[in-house]
Order: sequence, then structure tokens, then C-alpha cells
Amino acid sequence: MHAFRNWLKNKPDIGAIMDGIIYLDNAATSFPKPDVVHDTAREFYSKTGVNPGRTGCDLAIAAEQMIHGTRKAFSEFFNKSLVDAGIEKDPNRLVFTMNATMSLNLIVNGMVGPGDHVITTMLEHNSVIRPVNHRVRDHGAESTYIVPDSEGYIDPEDIRKAIKKNTTLVIVNHGSNVTGVVQDLKAIGAVCKEEGVPLAVDSAQTAGVLPIDMMECNISFLSFTGHKGLFGPTGTGGICVADDAEIKGTIYGGTGVRSAVPYHLEEYPYRLEAGTLNLCGIAGLNAGLGWVKEKGIKNIRAHEMELFEKLQTGLGEIPGVKFWGTKNLERRVATLSMTLENYDAQDVGTILDVEYGIQTRTGLHCAPLIHEHHGTVPRGTVRFSVGPFNTMEHIETALRAVAEVAADRPVEVAGLEKS
Ligand SMILES: Cc1ncc(COP(=O)(O)O)c(C=O)c1O
Repeated sequence: MHAFRNWLKNKPDIGAIMDGIIYLDNAATSFPKPDVVHDTAREFYSKTGVNPGRTGCDLAIAAEQMIHGTRKAFSEFFNKSLVDAGIEKDPNRLVFTMNATMSLNLIVNGMVGPGDHVITTMLEHNSVIRPVNHRVRDHGAESTYIVPDSEGYIDPEDIRKAIKKNTTLVIVNHGSNVTGVVQDLKAIGAVCKEEGVPLAVDSAQTAGVLPIDMMECNISFLSFTGHKGLFGPTGTGGICVADDAEIKGTIYGGTGVRSAVPYHLEEYPYRLEAGTLNLCGIAGLNAGLGWVKEKGIKNIRAHEMELFEKLQTGLGEIPGVKFWGTKNLERRVATLSMTLENYDAQDVGTILDVEYGIQTRTGLHCAPLIHEHHGTVPRGTVRFSVGPFNTMEHIETALRAVAEVAADRPVEVAGLEKS
């Protein structure tokens, strides 16, 4: 923890980048990225940026090695208990995508066919809700959305009760991008295992932030994005498929090998990958993962949660502020959504940005169902999300700013309910 803090203090270029702005929108994308991410991506792309697997030249082999090494690094990162037991996780079942959205589409479309039933939750991002709804509307599938309790948790027994003979997938959000609440994946995974239904997890807000062990949680498909807690460039992400899981491929195209075969290849990674990969991005993502491992998830999280505790407590003391989800720091990530009585959330975000240089995210955060549940549609909430490069000073400034805006209380906005 102290080593991480000292590193943070002595990192001059971060201060320069952040000069004049307080970035509290890390749930959208982490910013800034560690220098090693840009440096590695640039270095790799300028020296080795050729298409891997398409030719046998040295550069292509080097590119392939980088890709394979990254598959292996992520396979191990999400499967620590296998690594500890000396069992190799098949690195080819780590497939790269453009982002969590593409990963989640591949999972839903590959697992939910006509007449199948999928269980998900009201906490999901549109990258789950929309593919699920398309399976239902356009392909004759059925869906069940589980409602969270008053603290934002999904009761695993509600999942059990919803399972039917035709349930082919349970897909849940690990950490909510609206409330920050973290679900108990072990308990959900245990129910799925007992009932024999594959579990898919959207780890967009938790990969790199919390340890995730696929075997321990019985996860068949782990979707991740590269540009948030893994500090990779945008346009990176993937799926880690458990070695015993089955899924249908739903994209078809070039693989660079066995080109004469008229149909897409069944073997991994090709089953879920087609076309040229984001080489430059994957090199940066590899460096992002290396950075997380070097700093230590525990240390990064301790820093973020220390700041978050101050934020949560401070906001709770400001009259008119309301926020949702458990206050238990052990069971959340450093993201919080709030409303301010008599204010439109968009206006609060604009004031924070223009008057104080504080960047938050306002609106529904692509997760409309949880806002419906909280009664915060259509205008949504103001979301604060803390990252490793934030400081206590940032949090203190944010709290002062919200307190000043709250104290001002200039007008009652027409049409906005008092809550
Ligand atoms: C919980 C959750 N799922 C999925 C996504 C989609 O991620 P991406 O933009 O990488 O597709 C996000 C992005 O904010 C998210 O927070």
C-alpha cells in the first residue's frame, strides 16, 4: 500500500496530465493509463506490427508469440486455483474481442437459441440486456430478470427458483457500473453448478480490480473489457472460456489457417475469433495487466477504497444527497451514483465539470433497468468512480463542490420529484 502511494506521489507525468481536471469517471474508462501501456503498444506496433499467423516470417512469429503470451497471462490471471494446483488452463480458450460488449454478445448469441431460457439481472448493462432482448424478440427465446434486494445484491436462491428445464445460461454482472455493488459469485456459481446451468459473468467493472477465480466460482464464460481496471487501450477485451464449457461460434471469417475449409473452424481460439486482431491494443493490454500485477490488486484496491470511504461518508453527510447500494466496502467497488434533491442529475454533472473541473458521468450509464428499479429514470444519477491515480485531495474537492452545489439549491426544477 505505502509503496503504491509513494509511487503515485513520485510519478510526475501523471500530475501533469491531470493538471486542472479531477477525473472521477474511471467506471467509463480508466484514465490516465500507465505510461508502460502506451510505451509498450507504440514499441510493439512500430517494430512488430504485422499480421500474426498469416505468414511464417520472423515478425509474424514474434507477433504470434506476443498474442499467445497474452492469452496465457490472462488465462492464468483468471484461473489462479488451477495454476496453484499445477493444472494448465488451455490458453487458446482465451479469445480476444473488441470490448465487453462484443464478448457478451458472443456469449449470449452462442448460448441462447430458439426456445431456450436465459436468466439475468436488473443490474445489467445494455451489453447484456440488449442481446438478451434480441434473442427473445427475434429468436423465440425466453428471459427472466432477477430483482436485487434493497442493498443491491442478487439472492442466489432467486436464480435457483428461476431455473427451468430449458435454461441454458445464467449471466450476471459482477460489479455494478451504477451502484458499485459486487455480487457473491461463489454463491451464484454454486447454485449454477448444482442445477447444471452454465454461468457467464460480466466482469467489466471488476477484472483487474478484484481477484476472480473461474473454477472457484464455477464460471463457464468470463467476459472482460481491457480499458477499465486492466488499464489496456480501448478496443480490447475478451472471453475466458472454461475448459469444460461448450459454446457455439456466431462469427465467421478469416482465421489465417486452413483457409480451404468452407466453414468457420471449431477449434479455439478461432471458434470465437475471426479476422485480424487488435495487435497494438493487445500489446498495450498485456502491459496493463503487467502493471496491475506489479502494483498488486490488493494495493490498488486499498488505495481506491480508502478514497471511496471518504467519498461515501462525505456524500452521506450532505443534505439532499441520495445514493444506492450497500455501504459495505468489502462488497463494492469504488463507484457510487447519487442524486441531489431539487437538482437534475445532468445539471449537477455540468456544474461539477464547468465550475470545478470535476469529471463525472451522468444519466442512465447504459443500465436502464436498475434505474427503473431505483426510480431514477429518465434523468438518471451523477456517478463518481475512483481510480488509482486519484488522490485524497480530489475527493475532498469533490465533496466541497457537491456541498456547495447542495447549499446553493437555487431552484426547484419543474417536473422533478422531491425524494
Ligand atoms: C458492467 C458493464 N458491462 C459492460 C460494459 C461494456 O463495456 P465495453 O464498453 O468495453 O463494451 C460496461 C461499460 O461501461 C460496463 O460497465
